[in-house]
Amino acid sequence: MDFHGQHIAVTGGSSGIGLVTAQLLASRGARVSLIARRKELLDEAVAGIGERAAGFAADVGEKDQLDAALDAAAAQFGPIHGLFANAGLTGGFTPAVAFDPAVFEQTIRVNLISVFWAIQKVLPAMIEAKNGVILVTGSMASKRGMAMNPAYVSSKHGVLGLTRAIAVEMAPLGVRANCIIPGFIKTEALDRIPPEQKGKIEQRIPMRHMGICEELAEVAAFLLSDAASHVTGQDWAVDGGVLESIEV
Ligand SMILES: NC(=O)c1ccc[n+]([C@@H]2O[C@H](COP(=O)([O-])OP(=O)(O)OC[C@H]3O[C@@H](n4cnc5c(N)ncnc54)[C@H](OP(=O)(O)O)[C@@H]3O)[C@@H](O)[C@H]2O)c1
Repeated sequence: MDFHGQHIAVTGGSSGIGLVTAQLLASRGARVSLIARRKELLDEAVAGIGERAAGFAADVGEKDQLDAALDAAAAQFGPIHGLFANAGLTGGFTPAVAFDPAVFEQTIRVNLISVFWAIQKVLPAMIEAKNGVILVTGSMASKRGMAMNPAYVSSKHGVLGLTRAIAVEMAPLGVRANCIIPGFIKTEALDRIPPEQKGKIEQRIPMRHMGICEELAEVAAFLLSDAASHVTGQDWAVDGGVLESIEV
């Protein structure tokens, strides 16, 4: 997988899956634009990657900030050839009856509507080039229900639908779109789970352990690369077998 000459924008590039994927893409030659809110983490990430990386601080839930970040990225590294729309939040766990409508709206805005905004922003250049690739981060909640998490589940079902819609519409125009589905991948959020609960989760994963960001990043890089040139509209789980199992 060679990404020389390609510019890939990664939202949620300040930590976890987005950061590790950006590092991998850059190590294979891509210029990467990292977009997230925490500027100090973006600065650290860019210092670690080197001249192939640039950071643009933005809240993706604010359209003006997202548009400005994507414009600045294109000004720095040229037209965006790949978009990894990965930023997301969990939305909190509360019974549906008591779920705060404002939290529901914000979760849909950050996890789903911002992905649409980003796609809409990068598509014209991709269509003009007759070449582009979009990868969206879904979740097992893109394909299954989960108690007490209605906003997140709705948003992640939404991004899978959005991916399929874009894939079908853009296929004749040379633009691919796919959705990557992380299972339990060790990141900051999962680090906060108490050890005994982590143990229980691992027992329900057919492989009996959580994944790491590098394992997710390899599949993300494949889907973003020309090696996947005939792959579009797909969802690909990196989950140790959870979704295909009746153990959970
Ligand atoms: N890890 C897993 O097991 C797992 C499972 C299912 C799905 N996912 C999905 O994977 C994606 C990445 O999460 P992660 O696991 O890597 O966790 P993470 O380390 O917490 O990363 C989340 C990223 O999203 C960014 N972000 C959140 N809200 C944002 C906003 N309003 N504007 C801009 N950036 C925002 C964060 O950056 P800032 O805080 O700096 O803004 C951070 O870079 C998410 O979409 C998540 O739903 C992860």
